[in-house]
Amino acid sequence: MDANHDPLEALRMEHEGIRDVLNKFEGYLKKAAAAESDENGNNLINRLSEIAAFMDKDMEIHFKREEEALFPVLGNYIGVETGPINVMLIEHNHCRDLSADFKVKINGYRQDKDYKALADAGNSLSRLLSEHEDKEDHILFNMAQMHLTQDEKQNIMEKILSIN
Ligand SMILES: [Fe+2]
Ligand SMILES: [Fe+2]
Repeated sequence: MDANHDPLEALRMEHEGIRDVLNKFEGYLKKAAAAESDENGNNLINRLSEIAAFMDKDMEIHFKREEEALFPVLGNYIGVETGPINVMLIEHNHCRDLSADFKVKINGYRQDKDYKALADAGNSLSRLLSEHEDKEDHILFNMAQMHLTQDEKQNIMEKILSIN
């Protein structure tokens, strides 16, 4: 990614990366239900822990890039306190809560093998995050495309690159 890149394209590409991880995530959750030996179970828990680490780091950076670079500028046109940006901010925090809960359930699973609690938490997170990125791709970013000037896009891209 360089500073001449379109920030909306850059964020859409991050969505593609998130979708790839969510596809793997859902596959791991299905396999965890069928894991027959402790060894298989432990292996899957390690994969799910890697997903949790992705949520802590990559999902968090992506959310911050939207919250600190895109939303304030787009908010000058469509508002931040109400409307779609407000909904997106609420969903970010809901994803953060679900991600924290998922980590608790991973640790619980190590002790009690409560697959159902783990799968419910994982599926809730995966579903919300997937629907959230779809809404941005299909609604919010199209609004941004209509409103943002070339200069604004340039500034947003520079800000995105400073958030790591
Ligand atoms: Fe978002
Ligand atoms: Fe996003």
